[in-house]
Amino acid sequence: MQTLLSSKKIPWEDFQSFTTDQKVQYFTAPDGRIFDILISQQFDRPLLEELIKLANHTRLIAKTKEGLNWLKTLLSHKRIMLYFVQPSTRTFLSFMNACQILGMGISEVRDTSTSSEVKGETPEDTIRTFSSYFDAIIMRHPKEGFAERASWVLNNSDRPIPIFNAGSGKDQHPTQAVLDIYTIHRESSGIDGKSIAMVGDLLRGRTVRSLSYLLTNYKDIKIYYVSPAHFKMREDIKSFLKKMNITYYEYDDLKKVLPLVDAVYMTRIQDEHDINGESKNYDYTNFQLLEKHLPLLKDDAIIMHPLPRRHEIEVKVDADPRAKYWRQERNGMWIRTAMLIKVFAIEDLVFNRKQD
Ligand code: CP
Repeated sequence: MQTLLSSKKIPWEDFQSFTTDQKVQYFTAPDGRIFDILISQQFDRPLLEELIKLANHTRLIAKTKEGLNWLKTLLSHKRIMLYFVQPSTRTFLSFMNACQILGMGISEVRDTSTSSEVKGETPEDTIRTFSSYFDAIIMRHPKEGFAERASWVLNNSDRPIPIFNAGSGKDQHPTQAVLDIYTIHRESSGIDGKSIAMVGDLLRGRTVRSLSYLLTNYKDIKIYYVSPAHFKMREDIKSFLKKMNITYYEYDDLKKVLPLVDAVYMTRIQDEHDINGESKNYDYTNFQLLEKHLPLLKDDAIIMHPLPRRHEIEVKVDADPRAKYWRQERNGMWIRTAMLIKVFAIEDLVFNRKQD
């Protein structure tokens, strides 16, 4: 497999100076197909709509034993590495199950202390080693931008294989954002014209960054960023929204925003990124969704959370029909299955199969 630019060896310094559009080319196969999935800016509306249809179609096929057995034949000749050296429950498990649904062979490294990185092997050499054995890598890494670096390493080798970014530092979590789009589309009947609140630690949360990028593909979107003053959304995203003519507002109290929105996207405080335990210095009362707040929310609004949660959503809220975060988790498995189908170019097989 090759990407558009993998035939041209590009020095790292030059790659780093690429614009986002040039990087998107670098992550694309010569036939225009998405190759690596690394940043949300790779997704345009037609691709998002195709993935949503593919996920819906696949889950219909999977409703019967015959359908599930057929899906298992599709990528049974492929092997995949799950390289998750930062903690994860649902991204890891949903990707693992997506691979299993398609019959792929799976291996995993979840801790560098069990790989030769503990002997001093660089992460770059570790990635090259994976490409000797596998047809794709799904990776979560604590270092911002490492997924891009890994793509560059493999595109400069004789064995480029697709890389799926399952979360990179404080930077991006594009497959989470695609599953969030799928959830809004599925649970809230479409996305155009919607007002969406993103709540919590917007400075260090990667899901809200990736979701903000994806929302620029839709019409008449309004985003309400609700965060403590110390954890506001970064300027790069706000500049991008301005460039794309997306209206956004900034608030410091969730209660004021609840009556205005069609979706509330709650997130936790990302204190794993603290330098001196600074997260403990602030009051989060205005950024919690409690049962007593539910009457403020529109009847047809939805409540989302990438999870895991702590105290930002009271457990009693789970019983409200507008709480969709458990469905959101499950949607993740199906849309990630769709992403694998797309990258491995078997979507026609899936679309052309009649349901049982
Ligand atoms: N949403 C999400 O990324 O969850 P995990 O950290 O459990 O994978």
